[in-house]
Amino acid sequence: MNILEIIEKKRNKNELTKQEIEFFINGYVKEEVADYQVSALVMAMFLNGLTKQETTYLTLAMANSGEILDLSKLDKIIVDKHSTGGVGDKVSICLLPLVASIGVPVAKMSGRGLGFTGGTVDKLNSIPGYKTDIDINSFVKNVDNIGISMISQTINLAPADKKLYALRDSISCVENISLIASSIMSKKIASGADKIVLDVTCGKGAFMKNIDDAKLLANEMIEIGRLVDRETVCVLTNMDEPLGYAVGNNLEVIEAIEFLKGSMPQDLKDVVLELGSHMINLAGLGENLEENKVKLLENIKNGNGFKKFVEMVKNQGGDIAFLQDVDKFPKAKYIKPVVAIKEGYIYEMNAEDIGKVACNLGAGRVKKEDVIDYTVGIKLCKKVSNKVLQGECLAYVYANDVKSLELSISKLQDIIKIGDNKIERLSTIFGICR
Ligand code: URA
Repeated sequence: MNILEIIEKKRNKNELTKQEIEFFINGYVKEEVADYQVSALVMAMFLNGLTKQETTYLTLAMANSGEILDLSKLDKIIVDKHSTGGVGDKVSICLLPLVASIGVPVAKMSGRGLGFTGGTVDKLNSIPGYKTDIDINSFVKNVDNIGISMISQTINLAPADKKLYALRDSISCVENISLIASSIMSKKIASGADKIVLDVTCGKGAFMKNIDDAKLLANEMIEIGRLVDRETVCVLTNMDEPLGYAVGNNLEVIEAIEFLKGSMPQDLKDVVLELGSHMINLAGLGENLEENKVKLLENIKNGNGFKKFVEMVKNQGGDIAFLQDVDKFPKAKYIKPVVAIKEGYIYEMNAEDIGKVACNLGAGRVKKEDVIDYTVGIKLCKKVSNKVLQGECLAYVYANDVKSLELSISKLQDIIKIGDNKIERLSTIFGICR
């Protein structure tokens, strides 16, 4: 067997065997297969598709490419959460300390930004001192001691996915159901989850642009979960406009801190409560989803969710002074408004386009080795369906150079669309698949 034959086979639209997929994945991790060969193979997979069988083999090969975490000694049901990606998606940072404060143990391995979407790891790294790259023993110890740890994929869990994830991002091969499903499920299997709750985003700022594709992706992941005996629940959520108001790394962390302190944008609140209620249910801590939502809101009100977040950040070396006073976070050099050129109602704010503006400001990567600028991004002042007056602020751009500042302002002026009639907002939760 050799990699050229495998590339040729997929290029010619034939189905790969388990052995061929394992050969490719193991060779890639051991660096016996070159990046450019993997690029060619991944592009062939992207264009010609993978069967369900190939997707399962790919998932398991990636999950088995490193260690599989055994969390059974914690003697609790571990419920993991993951999102298929979005713009302004700070859900994990709001949700996971909150559910941990209710007693759901959280052992979460997050990803970097991908394409035009942000990544939880980049956001967490914007908290000075916070270490996302800790070893496996410390990770498990943290979950055991305080009930939560959030880390990056730097430890030896699903290393094949880590490499492929960054590669797919740099060769424009992200939006593919099989590649997304195998990427997410391999990480969840390797990180020792017993049960899994997935936020399957759908809309202009998601990789799945319509509900039919979002359901296909959800069902593919549920099926993989069933094969490996990990009950999986998918919540289909709206990602047409950015979630909440902030897009960009430390801006989103600040919004998450304010959320945990009680200032909750409605769409973000809807997603956090829906996912959280299923996590509590799967953990065996509450069957009634509505009652679970009440428990989550109580822990916002009594401050326990925020306290858990502070505990986690401290435990992983972060400077909690920034959480207590968000004004301490470094700011971009230029913060300028985008103003409405006419009066009316906002009828569209394409989240993908806004994500790309944030990326070009430096909040995301164009090449996989690019360094993120944590301070830049966009802070929206309005949401879809809001009324605006002429001259009113639509958003603020946070930039560190004049050229990208001006370009972003002019792009946002086009992206934020104002019409004469008020439109109804779509609901944030589209449905549940299990
Ligand atoms: N999140 C992941 O972990 N992988 C993908 O491919 C997309 C979103």
